[in-house]
Amino acid sequence: MTSETPLVVVENVQKHYGEFQALSDIDLTVNTGEVVVVIGPSGSGKSTLCRTINRLETITSGSIRIDGKELPAEGKALAHLRADVGMVFQSFNLFAHLTILENVTLGPIKVRGLKKSEAEAEAMTLLKRVGVAQQANKLPAQLSGGQQQRVAIARALAMQPKVMLFDEPTSALDPEMINEVLDVMVELAQDGMTMIVVTHEMGFARKAADRVVFMADGRIVEEAKPEEFFTNPKSDRAKDFLSKLLTH
Ligand SMILES: Nc1ncnc2c1ncn2[C@@H]1O[C@H](COP(=O)(O)OP(=O)(O)O)[C@@H](O)[C@H]1O
Ligand SMILES: [Mg+2]
Repeated sequence: MTSETPLVVVENVQKHYGEFQALSDIDLTVNTGEVVVVIGPSGSGKSTLCRTINRLETITSGSIRIDGKELPAEGKALAHLRADVGMVFQSFNLFAHLTILENVTLGPIKVRGLKKSEAEAEAMTLLKRVGVAQQANKLPAQLSGGQQQRVAIARALAMQPKVMLFDEPTSALDPEMINEVLDVMVELAQDGMTMIVVTHEMGFARKAADRVVFMADGRIVEEAKPEEFFTNPKSDRAKDFLSKLLTH
């Protein structure tokens, strides 16, 4: 499924928050159709990396290109490029006062300029795909966490992004709901979506990832195929991290 066409190219990126350097010398290329799992201890810069790729955060230096285009600083061009990048967060971030259907149609109507009827037809197809079509007219609070997160995935897909970023999408979920979200993500990966996924779910990484990127202290310390990374990590940082992960 993976091609050799670079879709996300992060080159020599540095990111500071004031004096503090959150990302150091980040180089990462994700090809079209590739699924990259980003793993690493808390505070290692995983969320910051996602947020810079989506331009929710500026970078200090370096460059980030999506499908060959440099991320613009602001304005309409940024809104369009941002639409190329779908993002799913740990907290589901659905609009609480809108129905599930309205949550999914809002962006397509406002940003893609679809008619309400078109947007609703597309939204229903997506909601079916993630298994929550029955809930279309409910409010987010009436759904379980797993259902809400699947809606969040449908909402991101409704913008027809070129790449999907997931930042710990299952960490806020009760254990019994984790798999229903991971299953949707595995299907998405198998359908050829380009994905960058911050997660500690090794089952997902083994099943769906082409590559695991391990971060520590704002740097990419190690990259490998999932099987290789989990069975034979090279760096001490990764070994230490994995030993803690396995004993929980
Ligand atoms: N807005 C911010 N201002 C200052 N420091 C921040 C901000 N966001 C994150 N950081 C710091 O940057 C580092 C990386 O954070 P983050 O990307 O959230 O890590 P991770 O997602 O891997 O847990 C942490 O030390 C964190 O405290
Ligand atoms: Mg984080």
